Amino acid sequence: MSASASPGAEAKNISLRFAQSVDVEPLARLINAAFIEEQPFIEGDRIDPRGVRAYMEKGKFLVAEDSPGLAGCVYVELRGERGYLGLLGVEPRRQGTGLGRKLMEAAENYFRAAHCRAIDLRIISPRRPLPAFYAHLGYTETGTAPFAPDVPVKVPCHYVLMSKQLHDG
Ligand SMILES: CC(C)(COP(=O)(O)OP(=O)(O)OC[C@H]1O[C@@H](n2cnc3c(N)ncnc32)[C@H](O)[C@@H]1OP(=O)(O)O)[C@@H](O)C(=O)NCCC(=O)NCCS
Repeated sequence: MSASASPGAEAKNISLRFAQSVDVEPLARLINAAFIEEQPFIEGDRIDPRGVRAYMEKGKFLVAEDSPGLAGCVYVELRGERGYLGLLGVEPRRQGTGLGRKLMEAAENYFRAAHCRAIDLRIISPRRPLPAFYAHLGYTETGTAPFAPDVPVKVPCHYVLMSKQLHDG
């Protein structure tokens, strides 16, 4: 997560859309580039094209793009009255320019339009700055969960769960 670039400088030339099947391979490359920060904690790539396709069977990817190509993404999945959000990633050179916020706002609008009452997400525990990032966007910590047993970890990990209410009641 870089704080060095000037906020909004690049994000204003970006358009948002839902990913299509033609985006599967560029999306896998983008996610792996963004999630390189997790390599001290987890073995291997974050995802491959098959994994992206599996996500697309259950939900959708919102992607941000500009003329060089895909710049960011977030996965959104409707789970009854709640929305699940994951794989928020911004191409490393464009981090810190407002794209993460833009994608999170678009995801929130998607869930509001689907009448979700709340949004849930999870963070791997060694990623210390991320709870503060999501708290800045209105999310609060709600608990923890055990890590997926099939993920090859390099250090002990659990999930930190965070949520944001969208409607009263
Ligand atoms: C996390 C990530 C998506 C953020 O995207 P980004 O484009 O760099 O973030 P933005 O520039 O849009 O920042 C959004 C806001 O968060 C703030 N912020 C950034 N890091 C923060 C931190 N550690 N604590 C509090 N606020 C933070 C910014 O100042 C900005 O505030 P503002 O909009 O009120 O001015 C990006 O760093 C990334 O792709 N990281 C690697 C993948 C990853 O870790 N994904 C999340 C997995 S759960």
